[in-house]
Amino acid sequence: MSKKIKLGILGGGGDSLIGILHRVASSMYDQYELIGGVFNTNIEESRKFANDIGIGTNQVYQDLDELIAEEKKLAEEDRMQVISILTPNFLHFSMARKLLENGFHVICEKPMTTTYEEARILAEAQEKSKSIFAVTYTYTGYPMVRQMREMIRNGELGKIQKIDVQYYQGWINPIIHDPDKRSSTWRLDPEKSGTSCCVGDIGTHGFNMIEYLTGLEVKKILADLNHLYDDNVMDIDGTILLRFSEYVKGVLRTSQIATGEENNFKVSIYGDKAGLKWEQENPNYLYLLQEGEPLKVLKPGHAYNSPFSLDGTKLPPGHPEGIFDSMGNIYRGVARAIKNENYHPWEFPTIKDGLRGMNFIEKAVASHAHGNVWVNLED
Ligand SMILES: NC(=O)c1ccc[n+]([C@@H]2O[C@H](COP(=O)([O-])OP(=O)(O)OC[C@H]3O[C@@H](n4cnc5c(N)ncnc54)[C@H](O)[C@@H]3O)[C@@H](O)[C@H]2O)c1
Repeated sequence: MSKKIKLGILGGGGDSLIGILHRVASSMYDQYELIGGVFNTNIEESRKFANDIGIGTNQVYQDLDELIAEEKKLAEEDRMQVISILTPNFLHFSMARKLLENGFHVICEKPMTTTYEEARILAEAQEKSKSIFAVTYTYTGYPMVRQMREMIRNGELGKIQKIDVQYYQGWINPIIHDPDKRSSTWRLDPEKSGTSCCVGDIGTHGFNMIEYLTGLEVKKILADLNHLYDDNVMDIDGTILLRFSEYVKGVLRTSQIATGEENNFKVSIYGDKAGLKWEQENPNYLYLLQEGEPLKVLKPGHAYNSPFSLDGTKLPPGHPEGIFDSMGNIYRGVARAIKNENYHPWEFPTIKDGLRGMNFIEKAVASHAHGNVWVNLED
């Protein structure tokens, strides 16, 4: 009998962007077996997709209610243990809540819900259930992000004094100027996306990354968002000032109208001794900046990296680690947690990160709506 963790997927069908990333990531360390799910809203499409990827159709269902009812009839060893939610945002909350209430572990795409209130309800449900719950802030799994985190936490930068994170894309530029084209993406529909497009979709990665790397919490924010047109209700660009304390400040810049940009996510953290810079489009290079010293470039797989970074590197130096590897590391952390094995608490983002993310999105929108004012992130 397979000892692999039985995985189901909601969404992520052949028509989706993110499905392939989760399927490859889940297979990377031979920990999971994908056995079924609800890949899209049409059962015939779901079955066809299951056939296409060679997993059979016995555990492919019409919808989540049928999935839960039928899976619970199966012997425990045949049943799905963990379910990944890869649908548009508005479905995350109801799906995750039902799964927790029925004893499944959950891997949920970001943003975790569409409102902070939903996120709070979900956190309570998870607390009661004791299920493992991961939120896929994908970029935290890169070996050099892990290395950056360890160096910052070990004090190698000294006292943190400046934080700068940027996430620029340009993909919405050809859509946003034509009102007819806007309906081609659910991300511009508040019913499906939530109150924010750009901050919710990619700004939230930046927010999670800086808290993940530094261990500092953002206490206050001031957001200046851009909708570009009066008849577009969703932000598609924003600049957000961040205050961690009176003497630790930063900025988060995010855009989907940075024309020509692809996935330009970069983060720079400066302390009083040194600085570190990392860019998602060149993820194998971590830049160490020191006054009066030549620039140092750290790379994955070398013994000078921390055990946590090396644990997320599969091959010797020189073999690039990309986004599939990063998500693979997150899936492996979740597998270790499900199997009750030792795992590093930072191997995968949790429901707490999802909750912080929803607080940030909602407060950014509120800050802008109230005339670009400072807003506390505390309750
Ligand atoms: N972690 C990341 O870096 C990252 C990157 C991209 C997207 N995402 C997140 O992943 C999620 C999906 O994004 P996407 O770009 O893949 O969207 P998409 O529109 O490309 O795909 C959504 C999929 O969900 C399916 N679906 C819709 N309603 C469903 C239902 N009721 N039941 C089952 N399946 C249903 C669709 O058929 C499709 O297969 C979003 O929450 C998004 O924010 C995360």
